[in-house]
Amino acid sequence: MADKLIIFDTTLRDGEQSPGASMTKDEKIRIAKQLERLKVDVIEAGFAAASPGDFEAIKAISATIKDSTICSLSRANDRDIARAAEALQAAQRKRIHTFIATSPLHMEKKLRMSPDQVLEQAIQAVRYARQFTDDVEFSPEDGSRSEMDFLCRVIEAVIKEGATTINFADTVGYGVPELYGNMLKSLRERIPNSDKAIWSVHCHNDLGMAVANSLAGVMIGGARQVECTINGLGERAGNTALEEIVMAVRTRKDYFNLDLGIDASQIVPASKLVSQITGFAVQPNKAVVGANAFAHASGIHQDGILKARDTYEIMRAEDVGWSANKIVLGKLSGRNAFKQRLEELGIELESEAEVNAAFARFKELADRKSEIFDEDILALVSDEEHAN
Ligand code: KIV
Ligand code: ZN
Repeated sequence: MADKLIIFDTTLRDGEQSPGASMTKDEKIRIAKQLERLKVDVIEAGFAAASPGDFEAIKAISATIKDSTICSLSRANDRDIARAAEALQAAQRKRIHTFIATSPLHMEKKLRMSPDQVLEQAIQAVRYARQFTDDVEFSPEDGSRSEMDFLCRVIEAVIKEGATTINFADTVGYGVPELYGNMLKSLRERIPNSDKAIWSVHCHNDLGMAVANSLAGVMIGGARQVECTINGLGERAGNTALEEIVMAVRTRKDYFNLDLGIDASQIVPASKLVSQITGFAVQPNKAVVGANAFAHASGIHQDGILKARDTYEIMRAEDVGWSANKIVLGKLSGRNAFKQRLEELGIELESEAEVNAAFARFKELADRKSEIFDEDILALVSDEEHAN
């Protein structure tokens, strides 16, 4: 049987850390409901101790969502953890996610703590969080720039205290797929109790490798949870894009051999909702959810698609929630695609000679205009009729 890959969505927490993407409580509830329709396994609803607004949003989401586990982030201290637990009280399934930085740079310059102090604080935090729930996640922040020996000590200790998920954070997007995946693999091999926890990947996109790093963490490192956001929203250059992970694992099941609980047909509605609420437009060529992700402009491709969609489509637009794929008529389009659009518009030209004449006019127009819309074709054909 294939393993399950847990999808942990952090659009409402790390996604909101994207400058300009802050959301109101009601907007967060709308997104949480859509994430539940999408059937994500875990929704990180916010960072309870960060602000009263975050606390209230987590509380409301906990009371509303039934099917996904609700999670709050907290630093590794009692106050944050207690606040997270309070916000999560009404949740049917709750997770506390606590973190502390483990890289030499962060410990020395940011935390001003010794490695031993960090280790002790991580242990105390997980022990305290376990008083509220048996679902506790621990993240070594800046994990990918941390020293292996120290990471092993910290992770072994927090698993002993009852951490059930270990999230290997590539906080600044420094990872390279093979290195990141191997680091994770080596941690799992070296830590004696590593099989007592589920391993997770959390990657940022500073070098454009968040999705590749996450997938390497899964395939090389054995992670079984991916942390991601809708549209790849997130701090700086963003986080791993949920839609890309889900469709890669689904489309290449032959390679990944992992099961997902996700309803992929809810991906595009989720993308549009997040874009509309945050005001962050999705780039047209964005994988899966971009307006051009299933649009075909070249004549050769259009001809192939009209004969068999698999020729130039590895996924179906309809499977991810688009109403259909799109043949974009323009100067590269061929006669077949043009004729097909005439049929779709209910235009019946009397003879092949008329189709040829209309097609010639279409080509002339297409040289002047980058995309030909249905209205253009209707005008072009009525000009044709008037000319006859
Ligand atoms: O990027 C990061 O390190 C985080 C942690 C809090 C998991 O978002
Ligand atoms: Zn992050």
